[in-house]
Amino acid sequence: MTPSDAAYFEKLQSALNAAGIAQPTLVIDRARLDANIETFKGHLPDGMGYRIVAKSLPSLPLLQHIREKTGTDRLMTFNLEMLIEIARAMPNVGQLLGKPMPVAAARAFYAKAPSDAKVQWLVDTPLRLAQYLDLAEEISTELDIVFELDVGLHRGGFSADETLKHAADKLKASNRARFGGLMGYEPHIAKMPEKNDLRRKAQDFARESFESAKVLTGCLGGVSAVHDLTLNTAGSPTYRLYTDTEMANEVSAGSVLVKPTDFDTDLLSEHVPASFIAAPALKVIDGINVAGFDFLPGREPEVPEGHTKTVYTFGGNWMAKPVWPEAIEVNEKYGRSSNQQMLTGPADMTLQPDDFVFFRPTQSEAVFLQFGDIAVYENGQITETWPVFKASA
Ligand SMILES: Cc1ncc(COP(=O)(O)O)c(C=O)c1O
Repeated sequence: MTPSDAAYFEKLQSALNAAGIAQPTLVIDRARLDANIETFKGHLPDGMGYRIVAKSLPSLPLLQHIREKTGTDRLMTFNLEMLIEIARAMPNVGQLLGKPMPVAAARAFYAKAPSDAKVQWLVDTPLRLAQYLDLAEEISTELDIVFELDVGLHRGGFSADETLKHAADKLKASNRARFGGLMGYEPHIAKMPEKNDLRRKAQDFARESFESAKVLTGCLGGVSAVHDLTLNTAGSPTYRLYTDTEMANEVSAGSVLVKPTDFDTDLLSEHVPASFIAAPALKVIDGINVAGFDFLPGREPEVPEGHTKTVYTFGGNWMAKPVWPEAIEVNEKYGRSSNQQMLTGPADMTLQPDDFVFFRPTQSEAVFLQFGDIAVYENGQITETWPVFKASA
């Protein structure tokens, strides 16, 4: 973080105090969120569709805000709970499943959801395809099916081979289901070292697999057909790699709009952190006192150089890293506590009890669901609170 962070976090702390917030809270900075949305839109090539990854931005008002700013009606959803809630609250939205679900989940969805809900089910194997075709027959509903491709991540899905071709032929021959397109997720590309040209090789392989899958499934049968299909790729780590719409006609991304620390990568350097966990410091104690050391004369607990203060925060065992006050650190050696987390800080740290310690989540998925309503920070104030979805895998 930079020197101007002091002014930023002081203002944020005043806003939290003015709003009477005194427990761990997930804060979204709306101006920073909006800056990330603009950066994201600025990098999308002409004609590229955008699908919001709901699990990474798990709040209806947050999703609604992003829909308004991006003009998209496409969401990617990962569990039944969210699927039903979104179908009810946003009837215009088309939801693509981000993972294949047991057919029983799809059956449960149709028992509860609005009958005209627009859902594309993800299918990864011939067996699951058969199960979904049986379900379509059973409930007399035309299902829209997208095939999950393995474009190099090796998390399952169809490879671009004869099995995929047979599955596509079977699906197209069915009068109960529609072939909706292809989804090839490839976050591994961003993790590949440049060394030995590994990143380029992984990128080429993903593109070639996707293109072959399009041929095998008859996606190239006519221009209008391609327009009607979902040809989905990418995620936050890789969306920058798509500079045209030749291979895919939409990218999905979520996390990068709030930028947790896992997304501090070169490709995403123009995006700014827009979400913080604010946790009151319940205790700020001089010295580093750790149980057991009282009985070990001459031995001191291990802490970072210059650390002489101990802090216990309200909660703290989150997938998150402390970022303010400067240099404050979770002392991993002494373990994690969900009740009161021990951190250490330098001698010149001015933190007082009940001041806030700020963390950045390492990821937004799951973490955003741990604090109740999100506090929306804007122009020096907490202006709104946004409810989150119920926790679910
Ligand atoms: C299929 C799929 N697409 C896209 C994403 C990208 O999500 P995010 O942009 O939040 O990283 C994910 C994340 O897990 C995913 O599983």
